[in-house]
Amino acid sequence: MPVITSIADLRALARKRVPRAIFDYADRGSYDEVTLRGNRTDFESIRFRQRVAVDVSHQSLATTIVGQPVAMPVAIAPTGLAGLFHRNGEIEGARAAHAFGVPFCLSTVSICSIEDVQAAVDKPFWFQLYLMRDRGFNAELIGRAQAANCSALVLTLDLQMQGVRRQDIKNGLSVPPRLTLRNALEIAARPAWVWGVLFGKRRTFGNLAGRTPGSKSLVTLSQWIAAQFDPTVSWKDVEWVRKQWPGKLILKGILDAEDARIAATTGADAIVVSNHGGRQLDGAPSTICALPAVAEAIGGRCEVLFDGGIQCGQDVLKALALGARGCFIGKSFLYGLAAMGRAGVTKTLELLRDELAVTLGLAGLSDVRSVDRRILYEPPRAER
Ligand SMILES: Cc1cc2nc3c(=O)[nH]c(=O)nc-3n(C[C@H](O)[C@H](O)[C@H](O)COP(=O)(O)O)c2cc1C
Repeated sequence: MPVITSIADLRALARKRVPRAIFDYADRGSYDEVTLRGNRTDFESIRFRQRVAVDVSHQSLATTIVGQPVAMPVAIAPTGLAGLFHRNGEIEGARAAHAFGVPFCLSTVSICSIEDVQAAVDKPFWFQLYLMRDRGFNAELIGRAQAANCSALVLTLDLQMQGVRRQDIKNGLSVPPRLTLRNALEIAARPAWVWGVLFGKRRTFGNLAGRTPGSKSLVTLSQWIAAQFDPTVSWKDVEWVRKQWPGKLILKGILDAEDARIAATTGADAIVVSNHGGRQLDGAPSTICALPAVAEAIGGRCEVLFDGGIQCGQDVLKALALGARGCFIGKSFLYGLAAMGRAGVTKTLELLRDELAVTLGLAGLSDVRSVDRRILYEPPRAER
């Protein structure tokens, strides 16, 4: 077993554990991947102030997200097909998150269904909703999430059309995954995955049983999604969801200050500054770049959450400094899951926690709730 010191190590292990089509599905972005890269590189250009001679022996990373106590300001993002990265991936992810004390959000297009996850965990999880053309089906999904006692609904707004992920097309990613002449050797080299996922019970969209076009390639699936996902979605639909869902509501995919001002009037409890992990509008700003203006536009009227490019605790701290209350992790969750199942997700969370704690201390703070922009380094004019 290799020594794991970072999420990059988990990523390297994940690459060995799952077939290329599955790994690339998590790892890659839309079109030329400009936004995907920006989500990482823009983090790297931010610096902390190094502070000394401050007692940081008593640290606290605990906070709340939409009123829910969390062990640290991190949540597992909704990711479609997580159950193809490891057998019962969504269940294992939820168990790891709950044991750690952070929220787990199940995707509409998960492999394990809402009911599968509910039966397997003993704490409420969050559910992410995509609005489909069939409003009856949306209402049905909301009802199922309520029946499963989900403690927040995350309404994703940035998939009104689907950005093209070229690598998925080239890899011929299919749902459920299939053994073909082209991928036979590669799949044969991953026996644990074959046994766990390919021969597993759950291999297709758990929440959409009876609605998907059957065993088809992702190209067909993309066409199906294009046909199902509703390009007419407007703020009126957000109002409709708000009326249907009495619990905590989180609007995901807000990247622009003008949209943030509208979102703040919808009665949502939080927004997520997100560009879908660089998988949708290529050429959109990185989320860390967009965050300050969105947070300012929200002006404290609801909570500001963040995702995009988080791969270490330092990233979490930078997002908090620029106005986020908490961060979702997408790829970092999937790398851990693909690498080592539930233990891998726990490892991801432990790495983030430890990096966050040390970075907080070296920046001269003890309590994550006191983080603000003052921890960031402003270069003197001559250096800029
Ligand atoms: C493989 C994958 C699948 C995703 N599926 C969904 C989804 O079903 N619903 C959703 O709202 N967001 C989805 N996202 C976006 C994530 O929720 C999140 O916004 C993004 O991953 C954050 O960026 P990061 O991966 O750099 O952490 C997905 C992301 C990935 C990587």
